[in-house]
Amino acid sequence: MPMAVALIVIVVASLVFHVASPWWTTPLASNWQTMDDTLAITLLITGIFFVGINLFVAYALWRYRHREGRRAAYEPDNKKVERRLLVGTTLGIMALLAPGLFVYAEYVRAPADALVVEVLGKQWEWHFRLPGASGKLGMTNVNFVNASNPFGLDPKDPVGQNNLLVAGDLHLPLNKPVKVLLRSQDVLHDFYVPQFRARMNMVPGMVTSFWFTPTRAGRYEILCAQLCGVGHYNMRGYVVVEDEATFLKWLEAQPTFTATLEKPRAGPAAVASGRGNPLQAQGQALAQAKGCIACHSADGKPGVGPTWKGLYGKTETMADGTSVRVDDAFLKNEIRNPQARVVKGFASIMPKIELTDDELAALSAYIQSLGNPGQPPAQ
Ligand code: CUA
Repeated sequence: MPMAVALIVIVVASLVFHVASPWWTTPLASNWQTMDDTLAITLLITGIFFVGINLFVAYALWRYRHREGRRAAYEPDNKKVERRLLVGTTLGIMALLAPGLFVYAEYVRAPADALVVEVLGKQWEWHFRLPGASGKLGMTNVNFVNASNPFGLDPKDPVGQNNLLVAGDLHLPLNKPVKVLLRSQDVLHDFYVPQFRARMNMVPGMVTSFWFTPTRAGRYEILCAQLCGVGHYNMRGYVVVEDEATFLKWLEAQPTFTATLEKPRAGPAAVASGRGNPLQAQGQALAQAKGCIACHSADGKPGVGPTWKGLYGKTETMADGTSVRVDDAFLKNEIRNPQARVVKGFASIMPKIELTDDELAALSAYIQSLGNPGQPPAQ
């Protein structure tokens, strides 16, 4: 009997929580109303079964409870009940799955005139590529991948020369279909913008794709929806949806592949931050963009890796027992070849992070600004 009461309480509490819950989906900002509809169908069907089954069990517990002098009848099978359950379950599962199949078929079939955007995920950054003047994406090859060419564009392919490489927020025009091509450089990532109801895994070695039409102007957060390492939670980016004129103006300002080859790009905040030492500011921006801050705090808080506060100039004990003074050469070695030596007490899990010499110098300057007692902190 207490069991029956408990089941009824669980059912009622679940229904009340569903209605009163503050955790609803964000307002829809794309054409994928059908995604919401499919979710609603799933919730309705599973909800009906959840309530029905639990209330039936509660009823059976009460109706067939133990009473003196009564014995249970032995009935090993009942064809009629089984047939009904079989048909009911089959119909229920079909109704759960079929709408999703139709929506998914639509989801991966992009309109011919869709704007093509390539998204590259790597631990723990987002990179975007747009076709530019040629209207086509140029050839890529893993052999060309390096710190200043994360997509691995072929420098000899004329088509790729004017591909636009976006650092920072990805901008998209309002009410225009966008085809998203997804690639990963290392492990599984997942490009997810909740407001668009659109997401897909990014799989190393293949290109996955879906499309959507942004229907609401705004700035939306991109989340990585696959656990991709210690910096996963910090793998974020932004999509800005704006009217077409503003979008085209933004597009014009994006550097072509050729331009990035000629002049290695300064970190986004080297330009943004006018105050302080520009090299330190660039290093600080890199620490954010490359995901360093996922493991290394700047304020002395313990993390997965050593904090950067007071690190520079300090003498660290390494896992092999040796002592090393932290200077530019040490930082360079540790960043370029993180698995070679590890500071005592820390796990050997830092991924290799591709940095150009300029970027390395900037990062080193930032770390130095947090540690060297001879200099005031950079904040
Ligand atoms: Cu990338 Cu999680």
